[in-house]
Amino acid sequence: MKRILVTGASRGIGLELTKQYLELGCSVIATCRSPQKANALMVLKKENPQKVDILSMDVEEEQSVESCFNSLLQKKIHIDLVYNNAGIIDWNNLNEVSASSTEKIYKVNLIGALLVTRHALPCLKNSADPIIVNLSSRLGSIKIRGETQLGGAIAYQCSKAALNMLTKQSAIDLQKHNIRVISQSPGWVKTEMGGKDAKYEIKDAVTKMIQSLLKMKSNQTGIFIGEDGDLIPW
Ligand SMILES: NC(=O)c1ccc[n+]([C@@H]2O[C@H](COP(=O)([O-])OP(=O)(O)OC[C@H]3O[C@@H](n4cnc5c(N)ncnc54)[C@H](OP(=O)(O)O)[C@@H]3O)[C@@H](O)[C@H]2O)c1
Repeated sequence: MKRILVTGASRGIGLELTKQYLELGCSVIATCRSPQKANALMVLKKENPQKVDILSMDVEEEQSVESCFNSLLQKKIHIDLVYNNAGIIDWNNLNEVSASSTEKIYKVNLIGALLVTRHALPCLKNSADPIIVNLSSRLGSIKIRGETQLGGAIAYQCSKAALNMLTKQSAIDLQKHNIRVISQSPGWVKTEMGGKDAKYEIKDAVTKMIQSLLKMKSNQTGIFIGEDGDLIPW
């Protein structure tokens, strides 16, 4: 049975990843900023008491990330798959976005993923086939942006392009430990972030994401894929 850790599991894609991996028979460590307010997660825990652990983790705070993984290590818990899912957006463009909002976006979307990756390593090293999935976005693809000339959400786009570099570089650094790292875009999804006009229902996007991950070849690492598993240009 695989054990999955999800950041930002309180709602949206993170919550649905938790649900669907439980349905697949996996156990899930669902992390979020405020477990006491995560009602949907509590329901899942009630229904699957042996298979869900809800742990506090604010990816903006290194101490919070570190203490979460320390508590898992103390219990000698291994992790097979980490989803760096927690993320925030600011839709403002170059002229409008504030420096403080840009900093916050980098702190959550990039630095948070870096800290989680680093502190998760001891738990991942105990897995037979460890993998880290960074939730990226086509908005972070430099190639696609250049072609479409779309502006807006500049801080978010930059943070996801930087996250893609984290994927590429950590895939190289962690190859010696057989830990794979990929970026995956979920597509445009009807969550609080994606809004109601988005293309996918959350359930459908997450099913596609999981199926494409299951179909990935065991030597694939350092790649950027979409919800269907197709390669996305960096
Ligand atoms: N929706 C889309 O169309 C779309 C497209 C491309 C990529 N993505 C990516 O997919 C991921 C999930 O997005 P979503 O659509 O599910 O967004 P969402 O519905 O807005 O949910 C975001 C999640 O991130 C959590 N979070 C925010 N800051 C955090 C922090 N400091 N520490 C821990 N958790 C934190 C939130 O927790 P709280 O409940 O505590 O706020 C929430 O659980 C993001 O990385 C996003 O960039 C989404």
